[in-house]
Amino acid sequence: MQIKGKIALVTGGASGIGLAYVKALLSNGAAKVAILDLASSNGVEVAKNLNAEFVHGKVIFVVGDVTKSKELEAGFAKAFEEFGGLDIVINNAGIMDDTKWELMVDINYNGVVRGTLLGLKYMGKNEGGKGGTIVNVASIVGVMPSNIFPIYSGTKHAVIGLTRSFAAPENYDHTGVRLMSMCPDVTETQLITKSVGRSLSIIKTELLNKTFNEMQSTESVAKAMMQIIREGENGSSWIVTHGEPPFEVDLPESSEKFVRKVRS
Ligand SMILES: NC(=O)c1ccc[n+]([C@@H]2O[C@H](COP(=O)([O-])OP(=O)(O)OC[C@H]3O[C@@H](n4cnc5c(N)ncnc54)[C@H](O)[C@@H]3O)[C@@H](O)[C@H]2O)c1
Repeated sequence: MQIKGKIALVTGGASGIGLAYVKALLSNGAAKVAILDLASSNGVEVAKNLNAEFVHGKVIFVVGDVTKSKELEAGFAKAFEEFGGLDIVINNAGIMDDTKWELMVDINYNGVVRGTLLGLKYMGKNEGGKGGTIVNVASIVGVMPSNIFPIYSGTKHAVIGLTRSFAAPENYDHTGVRLMSMCPDVTETQLITKSVGRSLSIIKTELLNKTFNEMQSTESVAKAMMQIIREGENGSSWIVTHGEPPFEVDLPESSEKFVRKVRS
């Protein structure tokens, strides 16, 4: 899918990697971008600055807490009505805090379920839409375990399973909406820099003292996101690590093929 001329919505787009996705979409010619984030975020200011940098009216900020179904739905509806359509949804909002795991599950998993259902509602051909693309943000610890943040890792595994299941060929034929997962490695945002104290006390102290020396830039993840949107296949999951171009994760395709493979 070409990015030029497209209308996009990014959850958690007011800061961190989400903001880098918003900027990259604009630099790559997106017609309109909606930043959906918490009322307490600096979304108003961010949208104002981006409108000054790019063409005025390209960016809107819509308030939306991904844990609140009605608020999220209203945010999607506002973007859809104001922009006259929707082509790309990036479900990016997330936190990494195992000490607040119930809230984290609600944001990282339920929030992505809500955003996926709304993306399908507003873009699905079966709903009268013209199809589109949903990228759900998981993590590198969505395809491998995390000894420090096991519950966070679990939410990200769930995001990949959800995304691949909605992307099944039968569903894609029905909706015309392509779904993919983005799995970044450690990236320089406050999610990492403020992570100390956000692990459960049952985790060994030696592990908690681990510092993240190598952090890739948010811009490198956003660049990878643009490549995925342009070229990624429906159902694919992509790792981006050390600022390098993304590579696709090799996951079992269907239970039938998988069982055949492990038996052979
Ligand atoms: N930073 C990393 O190393 C890294 C690695 C892999 C995956 N990720 C994932 O990338 C995504 C973005 O992470 P980040 O590092 O930019 O984090 P961040 O904390 O810098 O930004 C997160 C954004 O989400 C918003 N947000 C939080 N809760 C929300 C809610 N309930 N409703 C709406 N918006 C909400 C915040 O206001 C913020 O703007 C997350 O899903 C995260 O799990 C991050």
